[in-house]
Amino acid sequence: MRRSEMEQDILKVLVTEEDLRSRVAELGEALYERLEGKDPLFLGVLKGCFMFMADLVRACQLECEVEFMSLSSYRSSTVSSGKVEITQNLTKDIANRHIVIVEDILDSGTTLAFLKQYLEKKGAASITIVTLLDKPSRRTKAVTADLSGFQVPDEFVVGYGLDYAQRYRNIPYIGVLKPEVYAG
Ligand code: IMP
Ligand code: MG
Repeated sequence: MRRSEMEQDILKVLVTEEDLRSRVAELGEALYERLEGKDPLFLGVLKGCFMFMADLVRACQLECEVEFMSLSSYRSSTVSSGKVEITQNLTKDIANRHIVIVEDILDSGTTLAFLKQYLEKKGAASITIVTLLDKPSRRTKAVTADLSGFQVPDEFVVGYGLDYAQRYRNIPYIGVLKPEVYAG
């Protein structure tokens, strides 16, 4: 098979498509166990969540609603600035709802610490954080995921929804980006 031009920028594959499929299935099952009968609202954090969210809601046989928010944390190149702004908000009241936050990667924790507090203020009945990837070595905020797909080392990763400068989101696996791509 032809390697796409995008894939020439990948240093190594971290999580294969097969690993993604089986782990997402497990996460879907775990969410079912936790939230059966609670009419949860799956809240995806755009844009990185879009592929994971689509697979996760299908892997989870719960009756549920979906919502999306966009949060911008003013990242310069590959590092978060610590300030978060809502660039696309909820379209409905979430008071007394059981929320499942669906995130691509938990890095410094800035984004999810902000979002969790925001949803608490809006009166969420419960908040379950599901992140596909967790980079615990980089955490600066006290936030932990309730469910996480894979722990990743302190390397910049792309694919399966995750981007660098809005590209590489459609690579079907998780790969480490060659540092020269963002250093140059
Ligand atoms: P945090 O606020 O520092 O936890 O960062 C969260 C957001 O930064 C994630 O939702 C991603 O969009 C982005 N991010 C952090 N690390 C990476 C990475 O290695 N690759 C791609 N995006 C990342
Ligand atoms: Mg994200």
